[in-house]
Amino acid sequence: MEYSEKVMDHFMNPRNVGEIEDASGVGTVGNAKCGDIMKVYLKIENGIIEDAKFKTFGCGAAVATSSMATELVKGKTIPEALEITNKVVMEALDGLPPVKVHCSCLAEEALHAALWDYAEKNHIVIEGLERPVNDIGELHEIPDQD
Ligand code: FES
Repeated sequence: MEYSEKVMDHFMNPRNVGEIEDASGVGTVGNAKCGDIMKVYLKIENGIIEDAKFKTFGCGAAVATSSMATELVKGKTIPEALEITNKVVMEALDGLPPVKVHCSCLAEEALHAALWDYAEKNHIVIEGLERPVNDIGELHEIPDQD
């Protein structure tokens, strides 16, 4: 299995690992099939994502995609952040092996779950944001791990 240099870099030196104590929104999503869990913290002020951090019990691809996803959402508005799909993150990393694509969905879903949490806490509705799931296996067809 070949990983791009960018994936290796974000795996070896992940950005934004940790938690935000007074986070505006926190989201946790798992993948029952591989047992991995992702937690994303967002600090949102005046509609801008000022900070993003993550913690994961996930594989290397999950670490690299969350590192890149949190980098990409920082400084963005909420509608802009919603455009940062797992595909955008994968492109920013110069791709992932097909068997690892679902790992990038973990980052996207945890980000959405954190935005959902923020919306609920502030009694707002975020246009285009769907209720997050606890297990991404409910959403995506996930290939068997070997
Ligand atoms: Fe579970 Fe990558 S997130 S194998």
